[in-house]
Amino acid sequence: MLVLGLESSCDDCSAAVVEETPAGPVLKAMVRKSQDELHAPYGGVVPELAAREHLLQLRSVIGEALAVAGVGWKAIDRIAVTQGPGLVGCLLTTFSAAKAIAWKEGMPWVPVHHLLGHLNAARFVVPGLPFPALALLVSGGHTHLYRARDWTHLELLQKTRDDAAGEAFDKTARMLNLGYPGGPIVDLCAQRASASGEAFTAPKFRDGKAAWSFSGLKTGVKMRIASQPGLELAGIEDPRVQALCRILQETIAKWLLKPIPDFARATGAQSLVVSGGVACNSELRTQAKALADSLGLRLAIPEPRLCTDNGAMIAAAGALLHPAEDPLPVNADADLKLT
Ligand code: KG4
Ligand code: ZN
Repeated sequence: MLVLGLESSCDDCSAAVVEETPAGPVLKAMVRKSQDELHAPYGGVVPELAAREHLLQLRSVIGEALAVAGVGWKAIDRIAVTQGPGLVGCLLTTFSAAKAIAWKEGMPWVPVHHLLGHLNAARFVVPGLPFPALALLVSGGHTHLYRARDWTHLELLQKTRDDAAGEAFDKTARMLNLGYPGGPIVDLCAQRASASGEAFTAPKFRDGKAAWSFSGLKTGVKMRIASQPGLELAGIEDPRVQALCRILQETIAKWLLKPIPDFARATGAQSLVVSGGVACNSELRTQAKALADSLGLRLAIPEPRLCTDNGAMIAAAGALLHPAEDPLPVNADADLKLT
């Protein structure tokens, strides 16, 4: 079965052609147009600009993906598209296009939850993943830990109470004037550090419930920058900036992985999936590998281009879901819940 996957929930416009085989999904083509340059002057994604840019990019992105895969519309067996959550204008452009194509071509059409997409990116690395699995899905908008019964059924275990981990990366890069998007730059800067900075204090929750919080970390970074004159303009080559980036990503990786041992025991998990844009982070990948080895969990972290938003993960999830009976009444949902 050949699936065309489309994703444009935020600032990436991506289409991919994936062949679903008995051995797992095979990526035939993937095209992604980044909007980094468009949003860089604002230090973050401007929703209205992003949606308009998707409208301009979508046609050529789909056309290129089909051309690289060497197939025409007739060869595609179904279209999978992100239904939500995300920026509503961005979702709507691609969702409406997918609906129209499906209707015109008489093609099965599958709406996909964005986070189910991030989980299914792991099918490209370990298609025969043993379940149940813990799925740590971390991006600019999400920091969620799920128990996955299989590739399409998730139960929430823990999430952030405030900012997503990706936001802590992006805001730190912004405060240090390092550029946009922040995660990859902070990662690069941290890898150049010869020493780490002073540790950050972990947040404590009075109600004792399992959760993350990253807003205090952001404030912590702000205070450290304020206490070192000139740091905000010192740039990526400055050892103090490098040390700050290093302790930031060491801290985020440590906090993200902290609940894994207890939840692995409590849920009988056999595997650990780490996905979403923040899963590109070199320190998180290293710490996750060491932790999974020590707990005897099978680890699945997609290659970086499949961790960030992309059409391939949506196609991989869409291959396992039931197509919508009638495309027309189904709509994009900025706040879509996992059912
Ligand atoms: O999954 P994604 O592409 O989009 C959302 O669904 O949000 O994730 C984007 C996030 C951004 O916050 C970006 O800074 C972060 O992923 N990111 C990273 C790295 N690469 C991307 N964070 C830390 N280290 C990286 N290497
Ligand atoms: Zn995402």
